[in-house]
Amino acid sequence: MSTESISNIPVHVSLIMDGNGRWAKERGQERVYGHIEGVESVRACVEAAVQTGVRYLSLYAFSEENWNRPQAEVTALMELMVKAMAAEMGILNKNGVRFVVIGNRGRLSAEINASIDECMDMTADNDVLTLIVFLSYSGKWDILQAAKKMAAEMLEFPEKVDSILEMGVDGFDRYLVTAGIPDPDLIVRTSGESRLSNYLLWQGAYSELLFVDTLWPDFRKEEFRKALESYAKRDRRYGKVK
Ligand code: FPP
Repeated sequence: MSTESISNIPVHVSLIMDGNGRWAKERGQERVYGHIEGVESVRACVEAAVQTGVRYLSLYAFSEENWNRPQAEVTALMELMVKAMAAEMGILNKNGVRFVVIGNRGRLSAEINASIDECMDMTADNDVLTLIVFLSYSGKWDILQAAKKMAAEMLEFPEKVDSILEMGVDGFDRYLVTAGIPDPDLIVRTSGESRLSNYLLWQGAYSELLFVDTLWPDFRKEEFRKALESYAKRDRRYGKVK
């Protein structure tokens, strides 16, 4: 990656990693081969994020809808992620990376949840970069679980009803599974698809969107850097006039 500095670095970059299957097919290989190569892109982007001073890097690794893929692919993906976590944790920790998994963790196996907890605990105090892996996540699920949490709170604590009914957007943020994490400034999707696919629907309301043709296994440091350069040229107005 070129060391020339980039201006206006986003605080939170989020990546929709797409195109692993197509990348593998182009090479006459099984889809899982693309996922394995995709882990290398994850490593490259984490390094690039640390080098450029991005504070939060999030990855859409597995959506709620991805559970509907063939069982063999789901199992292979889960095993790959647990293996990658175990293999990379030492180096992440050494580089000050805090590792966080967000999503509907009730759907993950006890074994996977135990490895995730171990990695999260080990890196909890790091503050150079927060690496968030969205696993078994979807935006609609997140908004729904927040609404249910709020309803349950109103039933349990009737004295809170007035303050809940008066709360604004920031108040609702606290019920989302991303509470405490800044909204993404930039969401990049690879592989030429131009949609959000049920990702960060609330949190991405004012994110800059970038759709690139590169397939995820080819999205490495130079592509990450180009995405930051594209972001630096954007004019964010948040609905106001400048
Ligand atoms: C989308 O490509 C990719 C995924 C659903 C999985 C991405 C996961 C990884 C690369 C592993 C990440 C590892 C860690 C540790 C976070 P696709 O299969 O939808 O490709 P296609 O659109 O070409 O079929």
